[in-house]
Amino acid sequence: MNRIEIYSGDEVISHIQIGQDVSGIEDMLRGYDHVYAVMDKEVALNCPAAAEIADILNRAGVPGMLVRADESVKTMDTVMDICSWLLEQGADRDALVLAIGGGITSDMTGFAASIYKRGVRFAYVPTTLLSQVDAAIGGKTGVNFEKYKNILGVIRQPEFTYLCPQVLVSLPFRDFLSGVAEMLKTFIIEDNENYYDAVGLLSDMNIRYCTAVAEGGDEADVWQECVEEYSDELLKLIGEAAKVKAGVVSRDQFEGGERRKLNLGHTFAHAIETLAQYRSCDITHGEAVAMGIILAAELSEKLAAADPQWMQVCDFDLHQRLVDDFLSVGLPINCPFKMEDLAPLMKKDKKAEGGKIHFVLPAAVGDVRMVDMTVEKVASLMA
Ligand code: GLY
Repeated sequence: MNRIEIYSGDEVISHIQIGQDVSGIEDMLRGYDHVYAVMDKEVALNCPAAAEIADILNRAGVPGMLVRADESVKTMDTVMDICSWLLEQGADRDALVLAIGGGITSDMTGFAASIYKRGVRFAYVPTTLLSQVDAAIGGKTGVNFEKYKNILGVIRQPEFTYLCPQVLVSLPFRDFLSGVAEMLKTFIIEDNENYYDAVGLLSDMNIRYCTAVAEGGDEADVWQECVEEYSDELLKLIGEAAKVKAGVVSRDQFEGGERRKLNLGHTFAHAIETLAQYRSCDITHGEAVAMGIILAAELSEKLAAADPQWMQVCDFDLHQRLVDDFLSVGLPINCPFKMEDLAPLMKKDKKAEGGKIHFVLPAAVGDVRMVDMTVEKVASLMA
């Protein structure tokens, strides 16, 4: 499974290529005459593979721009900076803009390419686990605006997304865990076999990493050894998660229905992240997603106790199982905020329609369903 295709009807609209290392980028760029690279500054500074990527780009005569990529600069200003740079470089309608970095870099660059000269092609080399299994697949691009995350943007597919585990060695373990949350989310949605394989592998990695660090090992060195040791199994699971997501996007590119399932845990997570920001708590997106999935499983269990129809589909062991599994891979399970504080923020969720939210509830591992509920009902069930 080296190539995964994304379809619109019978037409291939994007593809994901899986490789062992960054050398594969050279092949990916063959056939594109005018490539412009936008790279996250942190990747350029800290990723050991960045020098190799720079060599490949230099050999191909690809000019590069470095961007800061954190939530505070995920704005139209940065998108405009990328557009200005493309103009300066004389980029034309036949350009391919290559984003190298995590989800923030790909979201901003994909959006800039989508509006530059009414839309030029773009492609991604995601450098975080989170972007490899989620953000860089499916064509969601965009930026934050006013107090809303990703509220400006378009859905437009990259030419390709190139995935390889080599770039993950420089990722701090906590950021890796952010991607773990999205990977497990993907498998909970529709693939219980890979879910259990992923929990097994990621628990082993967590134990290996934590033990070596507790014994005095240097965190970065230990992590690098860990990624190298588990690279084949990790790559297989990244590919499987990408395949699940590619399938969902092929069936529902513009999120009219099934794609909403990918928001499992995210209604809670967005409220958790907003509150964390107000209260200056340090919670990553993946940590919020992990807490959100656990809350969604709790909600599912509580709904089953109140609703005979949901009781028929809900696996009553699910909540506890997810708690155990998430703890074993190193993800947090306890949301530090009260439901009464989260509820008003959930009401403002950009996906709320007519006072109701399409809640994605897990019924079992591999079976999630959408249930329209008011936030009031959620809050009363969770009380
Ligand atoms: N991250 C959810 C989606 O791409 O639909």
